[in-house]
Amino acid sequence: MAIKSSKKGSGEKIINSELNKTPFAIVESYKNLRTNLISIMSKADGKILAISSPNAAEGKSTTALNIAITLSQLNKKVVILDTDSRKPSIHKKAKLNNEKGCMDVLIGDASLEDVVIHYNNFLDVITSGSKVKNPSELFSDVTFDNLLEQLEEHYDFIILDTPPINIVSDTLIIAQKSDAFVMVIRAGVTKYEAFEYAYDSLKVLDIELDGVIINGSGGKGGYYSRGKYNYYRYSNNSYGK
Ligand SMILES: Nc1ncnc2c1ncn2[C@@H]1O[C@H](COP(=O)(O)OP(=O)(O)OP(=O)(O)O)[C@@H](O)[C@H]1O
Ligand SMILES: [Mg+2]
Repeated sequence: MAIKSSKKGSGEKIINSELNKTPFAIVESYKNLRTNLISIMSKADGKILAISSPNAAEGKSTTALNIAITLSQLNKKVVILDTDSRKPSIHKKAKLNNEKGCMDVLIGDASLEDVVIHYNNFLDVITSGSKVKNPSELFSDVTFDNLLEQLEEHYDFIILDTPPINIVSDTLIIAQKSDAFVMVIRAGVTKYEAFEYAYDSLKVLDIELDGVIINGSGGKGGYYSRGKYNYYRYSNNSYGK
């Protein structure tokens, strides 16, 4: 049964306008990425996919929203949850109101119905909502587990946009509660050392890295040279196990 929403998104208009503006090669890259992610989720036998990157501004939120849109185009019920309360951006990219959202549910000031925004028939958005002082503690709390459980009852895919791994601890907590975890690295921006630092942080906590998405790679296969960028092999902008 669908979650009733007291908020309204702009519906099809946003999706259509994004699609119309998006070059064919990018749409195709996202479709390839979707195929890989569906396989990752199927192997993980779960619905919750967390997306992060080592540092700021590497394309986490853009990628997360586009993945959510692309998955919803398969007529699967998808929700994207903005868990980056320090620098929320999903509401800006999707042109939505961020008055109440995820953090308001976690502090007990709102119910799920209060914060779910129907974006179109298959995609719902939960923005970050109120600024809080202690997001790590809130993500550690059982209230977040309960929220995820509720979402699992209603959706086929739950996409979590998260803060950068190397900057705040929230993502490591969120990753432990997710079924699959993928990292975005931005071609020409993410340093190998930054990726390695993030990867080691995951390893310490036994969090499996299920895939690496190369953002802005230009679509040609190959290797980056070590030193300047990183050396992860990619195909169609995405790499999954
Ligand atoms: N491949 C790309 N080519 C050009 N611009 C991009 C690309 N990917 C992302 N951007 C731009 O870079 C900026 C940062 O992207 P985005 O908000 O998705 O990153 P983020 O990792 O979520 O950042 P933050 O750490 O602040 O949450 C945005 O202005 C976005 O439009
Ligand atoms: Mg972001």
